[in-house]
Amino acid sequence: MAEWSAMIRRKGDRIGFVPTMGALHQGHLELVSQAMEECGKVVCSIFVNPLQFNDLKDLERYPRQLEKDRELLAGIGCHALFIPKDSQLFLGLVPREHNMGGLELLWEGASRPGHFQGVVNVVERLFHYVRPDRAYFGEKDRQQLSVIRHVAREERWPEMIVPCRTRRAPDGLALSSRNSLLSVEQRKQATVLHRALRAAASVAFAHSLKATSEVALMILGTEPGIRLDHFGIVDPVSLKPLESWEGTDRAVALIAAYAGEIRLIDNLTLDR
Ligand code: PAJ
Repeated sequence: MAEWSAMIRRKGDRIGFVPTMGALHQGHLELVSQAMEECGKVVCSIFVNPLQFNDLKDLERYPRQLEKDRELLAGIGCHALFIPKDSQLFLGLVPREHNMGGLELLWEGASRPGHFQGVVNVVERLFHYVRPDRAYFGEKDRQQLSVIRHVAREERWPEMIVPCRTRRAPDGLALSSRNSLLSVEQRKQATVLHRALRAAASVAFAHSLKATSEVALMILGTEPGIRLDHFGIVDPVSLKPLESWEGTDRAVALIAAYAGEIRLIDNLTLDR
């Protein structure tokens, strides 16, 4: 596997790009595999972006395993790895405020002020260096995906933003780099997020929206070790909370919760 270099692009291949913060798991690798099916050359980046952490402790303890990541990527044939340095990525630049159409104020944005501005600023910089044709993002971070799509449209970014489905452990827990920080006990408790989402999906549209939320919250309440940050049933595009099911065939249930100090997020599409 080559270090990323602008030379790769010169041959006229379609470039696929998977930006990550490393500590790679099967979810990340699935994004790379999807990119490899659709693109002649695939670049993955690893950069733990300080701009998107609003909690310094979260940034410090974020898992890092560069050598293992390198092996995992080489193992599936990823063509190039881009590991920018802080100083290189933001050279002479002051982060700029992007118009996110209010998406940045909801849910994760409300709990983590400035988070999405930090994400978009780094994605813009990474795109600037990699210049991909297609960039792959996981539905696991549903709001991040919506924000990036919004900005890409608003600002006429040429890159195609490709969504990829959430990869889960056999017990339903969405794979996440932060899962490695959970104790054995917390790891078991964390499955309640997916159980709550599944319960909501099983009654959605058949029962009222309020009843659907109550079912999910009731399941969450069965795990006292898990502290809820937010739960919402939202419009899949605007991510605004739905008032009722009327006129809707599809919604998304979003959840964020803490296991100890570790923040976990997940979501599930609800279909009529
Ligand atoms: P990171 O959390 O490392 O995730 C990198 C990409 O992998 C994101 O698009 C994320 O949605 C996707 N991903 C993570 N877990 C997944 C899972 N279980 N199934 C499918 N996809 C999954 O998201 C970021 O990094 C950063 O915010 C970044 C976009 C790199 C900007 O710094």
